Amino acid sequence: MNSNADQNAADTIIETFMQRTQGSGEWDARAKNSLPGGDTRASSYYTPYPAYMVRGEGCYLYDLDENRYIDFLNNYTSLIHGHAHPATVSAIQEQAARGTVLGSAAEVTVEHAEMLCSRVPSLESVRYCNSGTEATHLAMRAARAFTGKDIIVKMDGGYHGSHDYVQVNVKPDTAEDGLPRRRLTTRGVPAAVMEGMQVVPFNDLDALEDLLRAYSGEVAAIILEPVLGSGGGVEPQPGYLRGVRQLADTYDVLLIFDEILTFRLDVGGIQSAVGVTPDLTSVAKFIGGGLPLGAFGGRQEIMAPFDPTHPQTIPHNGTFNGNNVTMAAGVATMKEYGAEEVAGINELGQRLKDGSNRAFKVAGIRARAAGLGSIIPIHWSEGEIRTARDAVAVQEAARNLPKLLHMEMMNRGIFSAPRGQFTISTPMTAREIDTAVSVMAQSLEMVKPYMVEHTPHLLRD
Ligand SMILES: Cc1ncc(COP(=O)(O)O)c(C=O)c1O
Repeated sequence: MNSNADQNAADTIIETFMQRTQGSGEWDARAKNSLPGGDTRASSYYTPYPAYMVRGEGCYLYDLDENRYIDFLNNYTSLIHGHAHPATVSAIQEQAARGTVLGSAAEVTVEHAEMLCSRVPSLESVRYCNSGTEATHLAMRAARAFTGKDIIVKMDGGYHGSHDYVQVNVKPDTAEDGLPRRRLTTRGVPAAVMEGMQVVPFNDLDALEDLLRAYSGEVAAIILEPVLGSGGGVEPQPGYLRGVRQLADTYDVLLIFDEILTFRLDVGGIQSAVGVTPDLTSVAKFIGGGLPLGAFGGRQEIMAPFDPTHPQTIPHNGTFNGNNVTMAAGVATMKEYGAEEVAGINELGQRLKDGSNRAFKVAGIRARAAGLGSIIPIHWSEGEIRTARDAVAVQEAARNLPKLLHMEMMNRGIFSAPRGQFTISTPMTAREIDTAVSVMAQSLEMVKPYMVEHTPHLLRD
């Protein structure tokens, strides 16, 4: 049975949100008539309804009711310079005035490709598409074409977008023991895609080796996020990525790093930071300067068939591939994201992590701000998180707590990912980080009555 205190705490948080965002509530009621659920993206939805953001400036967002938020969502890591960076805005305006997409080769695409190839160790040659989803889809196709084999190995809890082949074990099953059973995580995907996919737990080199041995000669590639992102923010154990590279070499399979989230962690992506070079890499998010863009690439010999004059060409199309305005925004944005900016936001990430961990300690809560560099997930546990199953299990045991904390922090002007992930952008300074930490501390006090009732395992005696 719920105590009054806990019910009051939850109700107060939601009522305050609804009071502050009445304009959004009205639009939500209207939106539900033409959009299932009132919006068009599952990951940005939260109940009772998502706030309608109408303007962004630097690291600040404003909603329909003129509430101001520090933006720690950053459109899920894709806004490296926050909103409306002057260089990006001018690049978009200048290009838009000359035409958004000219349906031809463009100098700006070459410039963008040269930037990516000079920064990311594995990228000798790249092709563009319009999302991270397409980028991983095409990287997998490139690997299958190059090796002549079909099977791709992915991680339990690995997220690579929304194409059919990667809808296998996106969400780990926390009820199962031992190795993850292969299964589809959404309806509407043909069971046949599972024939081309195999699954292993992240951070488990033995399981990977057993699988590669069992399917020897049939595997085209291993695809993995070097840090599991939507699978709960799970970091690789020391030596794990190097171990995966060695196994890929031993069993003669290609290695694909999905660096769609992790590219921001270093100038050349996490692969340059850890010194492990995959055969293929997918990137997206901030490379489009806030507009939709994905890219995949790797060794010249693997990418060569994307040349339309190649005798065994792989046709690769997309009406908006390399559209001029996105490429111009991407070039302007990447030019402003060098070693100094990477170090700056990674330091702020550490400050947020340290501050949040102090807040958890003071509040007597068993939780941890984790993550690498400028992406900070919250783990509702002090125990070790090695796999996506571990991460999701602690998230499930936290019940409605992440949601309530997210909403209470919104009530106090901090916007983050509803699942509990904070991303830093370059316009932020120590001031915004310290504000977020103090809001976190105040919000933890607000959710405590809920914790006493529903998640006492997270409270110290
Ligand atoms: C690691 C990873 N891969 C792929 C994707 C899919 O990218 P998009 O949403 O641009 O399709 C995402 C998106 O969050 C991601 O984090």
